[in-house]
Amino acid sequence: MQKREFSVGPYEVRGKIDYDKLIKEFGVNKISDEDLSRIKKYTKDLHPYLRRKIFFAQRDLKWCLDEYEKGNKFFLYTGCGPSGPIHIGHLSVWSFTKWLQDKFKTELWFQFTDDEKFLFKGKSYDEIQKWTYENMLDVIALGFNPKNTHFLIDTKHAGLLYPEAIKVAKKINFSTIKAAFGFTDSNNIGSIFYTAMQTVPVFLPNILRKENRPCLIPLAIDQDVHFRISRDVVEKLGYHKPAILHSKFMPPLTGMEGKMSSSEDNLSILTTDSEKEIETKIRKYAFSGGRSTIEEHRKKGGNPDVDVSYQWLTYFEDNDEKLKKIYDDYKSGSLLTSELKQILIEKLNKFLKKHQEKRRKAGKLVEKFVLKF
Ligand code: TRP
Repeated sequence: MQKREFSVGPYEVRGKIDYDKLIKEFGVNKISDEDLSRIKKYTKDLHPYLRRKIFFAQRDLKWCLDEYEKGNKFFLYTGCGPSGPIHIGHLSVWSFTKWLQDKFKTELWFQFTDDEKFLFKGKSYDEIQKWTYENMLDVIALGFNPKNTHFLIDTKHAGLLYPEAIKVAKKINFSTIKAAFGFTDSNNIGSIFYTAMQTVPVFLPNILRKENRPCLIPLAIDQDVHFRISRDVVEKLGYHKPAILHSKFMPPLTGMEGKMSSSEDNLSILTTDSEKEIETKIRKYAFSGGRSTIEEHRKKGGNPDVDVSYQWLTYFEDNDEKLKKIYDDYKSGSLLTSELKQILIEKLNKFLKKHQEKRRKAGKLVEKFVLKF
């Protein structure tokens, strides 16, 4: 069988992703200008990731905002699969989520799927527990409001999640899971059940609070697969389908294919990297859209559309005018690759220095975030 040129799912992201094709295949909707002005009506300004179409697709956003307008405010739900260190790609979805939390003053339910990562990765239970704690520090460092943010840890909150998960699981066939995730008979039986666990936070807050609020999930589009399966199930159980905002992937250091991964060190920048490490990684590995010689670059210009340093700046330089100038200068050849990399290095170091300071203090706050039940 011929391998497709790209593939996007929770357990594999590969190739150069055609996002327009994905929209069709996944049956999601492009975020329209109308959607954006609707959001802006409530938030006053638009997050750069919305302006830049990094968050580019949605499900049921209109319904979610209609309810909001009627006074039925949504809660936010997102999550983290704790299998290793956090890289700057993870942070993009979460910092956008924080913006939503601030603008709409909503509750956020944040799931740590230690069960998932134990089942899917060749790592011990203890190792996954260590990463769960480490990853919580990064989430907290982003500045979420502890009064409005609740961490659910699948194995720790099992007593709360499991009774609901089995209700979900009973309505999903093995054949559906096999087809959606490409599982075979050799997948372990825990992995087959897992989607049910990821579904529960869609409606758990409504059970706990005896309410009927919409759930809005910001996620990277690979995670849509779980919810595509469970949206109908949720409805059959008597709850609303969740609304979803989908983001693109931040490209790995080495080029525009696949997504960033922390299992391969040199493809990503970790939140714990030192200034020196960041500089070395970017200088050495960041795929460049520049020409092979300075003379040629000055004459013909570079290609920011494939240049990873430029692409990463679209995540870290909030100022549209500054960003546009960098784009134009690189394209015209007046900005060299080494200079572009320098801009990125300084930007990232400044951001991560602050992040690391907050991360060091985050340990004391963990208790405040983990849901008491
Ligand atoms: N499965 C996700 C991961 O591997 C973690 C997760 C759980 C999640 N619930 C979520 C991600 C909801 C986005 C939205 O990272």
